[in-house]
Amino acid sequence: MQSLPALLDARLRDLTGVDPEMRPATKPQFGHFQSNVALRLAKQEGRPPREVAADIVERLDVDDLCEPLEIAGPGFINFRMRTDVLAASATALLEDPNGGINPARYPQRVVIDYSSPNVAKQMHVGHLRSTIIGDCFNRVLSALGHTVIPQNHVGDWGRQFGMLVEQILEEGLDPATLDLPGAEALYQRANEHLKSDEEFATRSRDRVVKLQAGDEETRRIWQQLIDISVAGFNETYARMNVLLTDDDIAGESTYNDDLPVVAADLEDRGIAAVDDGALVVFVDGFNAPAIIRNQRGGYGYATTDLAAIRHRVNTLGADRIIYVVGAPQTFHFEQVFAVARLAGYLPQDVKAEHVGFGQVLGADGKKFSTREGTAVPLNTLFDMAEAEAAPNIALAAIKYADLSSGLQKDYAFDASRMVQTHGDTGPYLQYAHARVNQILRKAEAEGIHWGSVSVLDEPAEQQLALLLSGFGDVVDEVAQTLAPHKLCGYLYDLAGGLSAFYEACPVLKSEGDVRASRLALCAATQQVLAKGLYLLGIDAPERM
Ligand code: ARG
Repeated sequence: MQSLPALLDARLRDLTGVDPEMRPATKPQFGHFQSNVALRLAKQEGRPPREVAADIVERLDVDDLCEPLEIAGPGFINFRMRTDVLAASATALLEDPNGGINPARYPQRVVIDYSSPNVAKQMHVGHLRSTIIGDCFNRVLSALGHTVIPQNHVGDWGRQFGMLVEQILEEGLDPATLDLPGAEALYQRANEHLKSDEEFATRSRDRVVKLQAGDEETRRIWQQLIDISVAGFNETYARMNVLLTDDDIAGESTYNDDLPVVAADLEDRGIAAVDDGALVVFVDGFNAPAIIRNQRGGYGYATTDLAAIRHRVNTLGADRIIYVVGAPQTFHFEQVFAVARLAGYLPQDVKAEHVGFGQVLGADGKKFSTREGTAVPLNTLFDMAEAEAAPNIALAAIKYADLSSGLQKDYAFDASRMVQTHGDTGPYLQYAHARVNQILRKAEAEGIHWGSVSVLDEPAEQQLALLLSGFGDVVDEVAQTLAPHKLCGYLYDLAGGLSAFYEACPVLKSEGDVRASRLALCAATQQVLAKGLYLLGIDAPERM
């Protein structure tokens, strides 16, 4: 459904040829929206602004949407939506099988690279953010009718496996007895060992060669480490209620066979060149080249990502690829995209976007770490939030805190603030949803029916209807700009509009058409809150 402001905007834009910069009215007596377009045009044309405004009002045909337009102050144009239009829009929303979401005109195949933790390490807060944000994109784009192909680019390959396998063999450890924290402890022991023991370091390097050559015992232990880790990741995913499944795992090792192919291709076509023993690509605008093959003949993170892009474009048929990875990897992705464009792996019509994000800080706004100075494991974060609230509310608190400020910003993990049912929090939205559900439940129990939104005499109910009409637009905007805080802000405003409505307009205590209409408005709001929360990955409880 097109929102009412978008309809008005389009007509005003057609008439004036410029962006009308439609804004919500600052006071109810000014109507619902205001545009300063006349003031801007007047400046260009050197005419009195009120005269330009009068011209526009004269020629703009919006009788089917608005009350007669008003010119205010120096030349603002005020728009007040007709109440029958607002009512029809809310009713249409209630009846819309898509719940107010505009199906994409051109459905795409969208690869979303998210979560992507590393084997034999517990997920850290960066992976938490990636998982929450990526999952929100997955939900939003799927809801619009795009085909989303999640790719969990698990770090399951690399030199660290040499030392891990050697350490297991030396300790005579049965890897089957390990869990993920156990594997991480092993990682730390192996790392210490590597630093202090030259001979162990040499053996670890040889072990990497064996791993790459497909040595059976080495591969078996490596696979066990992956299985243990994935089991651990899945426990976290289950706790987080995300859409990711094992089918979405495409770890770095998936691309092993493609790495020499990519290197040869880039070298043959003169895109990569040998420099100081390494095969590299120089890209304009970057002060360091992309390393395709290092001096020892090994392939690294960038080459793997190039191979992954080829796969995503050629085999998965991606029209758009979204990488949800922390801001420190911005340079990596810019460079990989540049090389991939140069090589034609990433055709011009395929969009590649890196969505970086900031850090999660401690409640004190400082670096978040344990007393020992190590990174805080994810389960500790969940435990902290669950100490304050039930699991589904704690999870809502965490996800909302993660999504509601601009992604690039760092945010403080303040569990006791995040779980509050007032203020700009996830639980506040859940509470708003539960409260409106309670009214609908009561009405149902009393056998009161609601059909459509028909009476909208009170400003608070008009305002609520107006807010509801904006849902589809905001979802479109999140899909385009990948800024989930827009949806959070919208839902927060909607919940605010709902409580203003309760205050001004009795629902069950009113009668007849007014009651039926207010109930229908409640039902439409419930529907939008539930859908909006779903898109954020947040549970919408019926009772709280
Ligand atoms: N495993 C990496 C990390 O933990 C993230 C991988 C992101 N995805 C990618 N295609 N590089 O930092």
